[in-house]
Formats: sequence, structure tokens, C-alpha cells
Amino acid sequence: EGVLQRFLGRLDYLSMDFLNAGDYAALADRAGDAERLVAYFATPAALYEPICAGLAEVGLAERTRVVLEKPIGHDLASSRKVNDAVARHFPEDRTYRIDHYLGKETVQNLIALRFANSLFETQWNQNHISHVEITVAEQVGIEGRWGYFDKAGQLRDMIQNHLLQLLCLIAMDPPSDLSADSIRDEKVKVLKALAPIDAAQLSQQVVRGQYVAGNILGKPVPGYLEEDNANAQSGTETFVALRAEIRNWRWAGVPFYLRTGKRMPQKLSQIVIHFKEAPHYIFAEEQRPLIGNKLIIRLQPNESIALQVMTKEQGLDKGMQLRSGPLQL
Ligand code: BG6
Repeated sequence: EGVLQRFLGRLDYLSMDFLNAGDYAALADRAGDAERLVAYFATPAALYEPICAGLAEVGLAERTRVVLEKPIGHDLASSRKVNDAVARHFPEDRTYRIDHYLGKETVQNLIALRFANSLFETQWNQNHISHVEITVAEQVGIEGRWGYFDKAGQLRDMIQNHLLQLLCLIAMDPPSDLSADSIRDEKVKVLKALAPIDAAQLSQQVVRGQYVAGNILGKPVPGYLEEDNANAQSGTETFVALRAEIRNWRWAGVPFYLRTGKRMPQKLSQIVIHFKEAPHYIFAEEQRPLIGNKLIIRLQPNESIALQVMTKEQGLDKGMQLRSGPLQL
């Protein structure tokens, strides 16, 4: 109770209409002479422009950092428009585009795992890796957010941000230092190397789906089109699986399979790096399906990193019978 009261004592609430210039004066009043402010825009991107202008109008812009959440626009043109509008009032070094996946422990660990171990880095390319899977399965539905989600869909809600950030961390070249700009530069190179998905090849490379009614943990849950405030005609996807290709020396010919869906039977986010088979196989043919090193990076639940390696079964009577087991980090 004591902690709660102390916490509540630090909160203050001011209700305002973002489109009403007069309300910003009340906000400036409330901010007083605080030297550093953070404005976290938990609003649709269409409001970013009037909010930025409103903050600037009452002189708050100079001492404010702004935090923007995805999706920033719905396509390239609208995204440029929103970013330009923000940039009119806030320089880039005070503009933060947030992706909460980057705060996850195992995601941060990708940098250490990759760049503090020469062991992995020497294997990290098309000579040794056959394919990569990035899976983010969610049990939740759209959590009462029809108005937002139906315009975004799983492509804008999850793929273009969270899954592509994971892809970048897996695929990028080593940055020259740990600064935000160096890491950003390497990620941008990966994004630029992504092969565009041709309309003609769409059905070969992308699958989209929508959840229907079913049971989760023994409880009935509605289908997407039966959610509160749903438009029964909606074609918005709640599931996407796609094959991405990165066109550069490191990754040519290595498919990256990205998958994410809402209302899946299980919550599971993980990245699996599948290594290629050794060049020459000498064990019993029936054991061949077992073969394969995998690095399994589990983001949630139960974060973990495991390297699946082959050893022999214990016991002289077992001969050279193989088994696949994890080296747990
Ligand atoms: C958010 C999406 O960015 O991420 C949600 O808007 C999604 O739709 C959520 O459910 C998933 O985050 P986490 O951390 O639970 O995997």
C-alpha cells in the first residue's frame, strides 16, 4: 500500500483534446519549468503532426523528446509524411522510434551471442546455415483493439517492426562499435538487401490467414470477424507466414521464414538457426533424419538459448547410435 501511494503521488493526469490549440497552454502550465520532458505518443500516427505543432506552439518542443510507436503511417508515402511532420519540430536526436521487442532480454543477448563469440560468427553465413525460422505465435486475439488492428493487420502490427528487427539482428554484419547509429547502419543494409516480393510470386512466398472461433485453454473464443465492433467483411490478416530472401554475400540462398499469428494454440516466440549438414555422412542411414545442428533462441515464454548438437548414446552396447541433445546456455 505504501509503495502504491508513493507511486500514485507521482502521477498527474490532464485530459486534453489534441486538436484544440488552447489545451496545449494548459499542458505547458502543468509542465512548469521542468527542463526535460518526454512526450510518448500512444495515439494513432495521424495525430502526431497536430501534437508536435501544438507542443511547439506553446514552447515545449525545445525541451521535449518524442517517442513514436508503430505503425508510423500505413505505407511509404504516409510514413514519410508523418516523419517529415515530426521532423519540422523535433531533431532526429530527440526522436525515438520504439520497438519493445528490442527490450527483451534474449533479443539484447543476440548482440552478445553473435559478436562476443568467434565460434558462431565464423559459421554465420550461407556456407554453414541452411535456413532461419523466426516465429512469434501469440495466444491473445486483438484484445478489444478492432479499430486499430483492422487497419494494421499482422503485417503492420508485427512483421514490419518486431519480426524485421529480429531478422536484422540475426542477419546484420558486425557493427564497428555498439553505438545506436552503427547498429542502425548495419540493420539498414540488411533491409536494403531484402528481395522485394513480386506480385506474381505472392502465393509462393506469402500466406495470410484470419482466425475463426475456437478454444484456447479450454475456453471458447470468438473468431476475428465476431470480435467486438468487427466489420464482418474485413479481409485483414491475423496470421502471416512468409519467406524472405536477403540478397548479399552472407545470405544468398538462405531462406528466412517469418511467421506470426494471433490466437495460436500456444504463446511462443523463437528464432531457430538451422545449420547445414556436414559435407559427408558416415553414420547409419536410418539415423540421418536426426542429424542437424540448431541454435534455438527462445524469446518467450521461458527465455533460453540452446544449441542442439549430436553425440552418441551412452553405453558400449549402443554402438554408434546417435542422439540429438541441447547444450543449454
Ligand atoms: C504489440 C502489438 O506491439 O506487440 C500487439 O501491437 C502484440 O498486437 C504485442 O500482441 C506482442 O508483444 P509481446 O511482448 O507480448 O510479444
